[in-house]
Amino acid sequence: MDIEAQKRAAGEAAIEFIEGQSVIGVGTGSTVRYFIDALAKVKHHLDGVVSSSEQSSKLLRAHGIPLLDLNAVGTLDVYVDGADECDAGRHLIKGGGGALTREKIIAAASKQFVCVVDAHKCVDVLGKFPLPIEVIPMARSYVAREIERRGGTPVWRADCVTDNGNWILDVHGLAIRDPATLESEWNQITGVVTVGLFAHRPADVVLVGDGRRF
Ligand code: 5RP
Repeated sequence: MDIEAQKRAAGEAAIEFIEGQSVIGVGTGSTVRYFIDALAKVKHHLDGVVSSSEQSSKLLRAHGIPLLDLNAVGTLDVYVDGADECDAGRHLIKGGGGALTREKIIAAASKQFVCVVDAHKCVDVLGKFPLPIEVIPMARSYVAREIERRGGTPVWRADCVTDNGNWILDVHGLAIRDPATLESEWNQITGVVTVGLFAHRPADVVLVGDGRRF
């Protein structure tokens, strides 16, 4: 199965997890796009969704699916989102689409995080995909120096301003063997908004486009 077919299969498979739900969280990206298309077919069951990005909000609006404010809905039962890399412990690298901070907030506020990926995203060790870090703009070069001191090679994603008005550094050259420690330590660098590692709040279930789930 090619990658696009796997993205579709994974995105559509997530529909089974939202049965009986009236409010859910929706992530960002090309895999989630297939989930949103499938969601449109069952939208009459939904009161609305909490979206993790302006990009997804636009798609959801186009499908006539109401958008809700996370502050108004409290804890969500289910959140569906993609990932850039996933290890066997369901720890993730996210943020390839620049929506990592809102994604992390919704994941934290959800009881079940369903992650949808194609098989190429499944790795033994996280870090081949450059780790996105959202930073306050004035802290960009300071954070970059701190990352270099810690052995990473940060590259400024110069064409990207996040939905929160911040910038992204993509950190190359990592082999992340202890994702929870790295997430904790790098989140402490002043000027970092969020590191795109989802280790303290990993996915609860990963649906792979080749039919595997773990
Ligand atoms: C956006 C993300 C996406 O989930 C991640 O980039 C995967 O995207 P795609 O499904 O297009 O490969 O984290 O910030």
